[in-house]
Amino acid sequence: MTRIIAFSNHKGGVGKTTSVVNVGAGLARLKKKVLLIDMDPQANLTQSFGIKDAEISIYGSLKGEHELQPVSLGKNFDLVPSSLDLSGAELELSSEAGREYILQELLNPIKDKYDFVLIDCPPSLGLLTINALTAATEVFIPLQSHYLAIKGLAKIIEVIGKIKKRINKDLEISGVFITLFDKRKVLHRDVAETIHTYFGDKVFKARIRDNIALAEAPSSGTDIFRYNENCYGAEDYLALCKEIIKQKPV
Ligand SMILES: Nc1ncnc2c1ncn2[C@@H]1O[C@H](COP(=O)(O)OP(=O)(O)OP(=O)(O)O)[C@@H](O)[C@H]1O
Ligand SMILES: [Mg+2]
Repeated sequence: MTRIIAFSNHKGGVGKTTSVVNVGAGLARLKKKVLLIDMDPQANLTQSFGIKDAEISIYGSLKGEHELQPVSLGKNFDLVPSSLDLSGAELELSSEAGREYILQELLNPIKDKYDFVLIDCPPSLGLLTINALTAATEVFIPLQSHYLAIKGLAKIIEVIGKIKKRINKDLEISGVFITLFDKRKVLHRDVAETIHTYFGDKVFKARIRDNIALAEAPSSGTDIFRYNENCYGAEDYLALCKEIIKQKPV
């Protein structure tokens, strides 16, 4: 069965988009069929692959103008782009009946073509994120190893709990992973331990280290494996992908 995973954390800049890009690219390298969906009006995921001003984007699909139209990023690797117009969608769709289910309905006819659908969420818990969490079978939470990163977690856990109760009973937080990790910093090590106490075996062993190549790759319009497959960033994301595959068969 297709694993549909929303990468969500309402805290900004924790590595959601970087992780969707590179987990997606890593899984495709490991021969899985992968679809990425950009649900963020900032369109950072789309821009990370060098796509600017996509004419056909998730926005038109959410408004009911057309079906999802993925573009190819390579072998086994597709993307549904976002566009800046998407920032209007929350308001425009706010009075529509069944507004939480729009992405789920759009995905239904195409999801079986893929092993993994990875959804990049915006740094908020509004209607776009709720659509992602309704369509998803799982949630991954990327976390930075800062004290404040843990403080905000109660809110997202509450929202996921409500969606599970009212809309999507099978939804689970199935993975938590640490990004921008610097093992030389005592604080990072301490927070990493606290995260383990909080989430137990949901925390992936792979930690994504702070690695400048991960910040540079998007300016070349590509993922870390095509940018520099020998850097820490590529090593860490590949290790994460292997754990993700081991978690559950697809
Ligand atoms: N492991 C890393 N090492 C170095 N830089 C990183 C790493 N992960 C992410 N970055 C950089 O940190 C910044 C924030 O990352 P990213 O855009 O992935 O976060 P985000 O959670 O998607 O942000 P937003 O909430 O705005 O959508 C970006 O400039 C990115 O290139
Ligand atoms: Mg982002």
